Amino acid sequence: MNQPRILDGKAVAAAVLDECRAETAELKARGITPGLAVVLVGNDPASAVYVGSKARTCADLGFHSVKIELPAETTQEELLQVVRDLNADPAVHGILVQSPPPEHIDEATVIREIDPRKDVDGFHPENVAKLVLEDPSGFVPCTPAGCMKLLELSGIDLNGAEAVVIGRSMIVGKPMALLLVGKNANATVTIAHSRSKDLPAICRRADVVIAAVGRPDMVKADWVKPGAVVIDVGINRVADSSKKSGYRLTGDVDYAEVAPRTSAITPVPGGVGPMTIAMLMKNTLQAARQLG
Ligand code: GUN
Repeated sequence: MNQPRILDGKAVAAAVLDECRAETAELKARGITPGLAVVLVGNDPASAVYVGSKARTCADLGFHSVKIELPAETTQEELLQVVRDLNADPAVHGILVQSPPPEHIDEATVIREIDPRKDVDGFHPENVAKLVLEDPSGFVPCTPAGCMKLLELSGIDLNGAEAVVIGRSMIVGKPMALLLVGKNANATVTIAHSRSKDLPAICRRADVVIAAVGRPDMVKADWVKPGAVVIDVGINRVADSSKKSGYRLTGDVDYAEVAPRTSAITPVPGGVGPMTIAMLMKNTLQAARQLG
């Protein structure tokens, strides 16, 4: 059995956050305190955990941090007004509305209401266009940016590599594919999804697999070419009565059986998750710098 490298997202994120701390000090010396507003509508328990973790990281870096928790019954117009107020608040450089919102909210409309210069999630059409155009003034969505940073700081060369992204979401799959094919990475990219024919065969071609589908333990050992690098974006809650919480977290990759076939793999938790938050902080610093 092969001993894979475990890509320690927690350690790499800590290094990124140290860089952020230094940049925060520089901005503060110029009279700018980076500010991030996080809006949570409803009571999705996983979202509440993510939002809490984002606010803690802001506090740790010395950001101005606003956490707005709205009831599940909040109307679309009320939410749009909250976004408009944040757009107009000079102490707020970054705005994030936690996804997914309750069903009666039209997420696309809310995203379009966010000032693109404060859209640290990179979901606004203007920032999506900038990602396609490889314009660095845009914001890159945090999770795919975190995957790229983790690969880069782990010394994994993507030049000419065959990459397969499983999942085509706005938050991860599509931006991930654009980053991998872009001039900073130069991979050859396939985007696979739930309707792809023979997903295991497509996946087996990959030198680098990015799993971002939200299905627990979907990627099995025989889907993975020996020596491939596997990045697991999934954070799935599965029932586990032996845990105090009643659940455990598992990725989209069946880690126990896949890991021995890989040259490097991210664990869940402790892989991509911490990188996502670190990149959100980097994006907020970028917004603060650009807005001045
Ligand atoms: N839900 C899961 N990931 C994300 C993210 O990166 N941003 C937002 N706003 N919501 C999310």
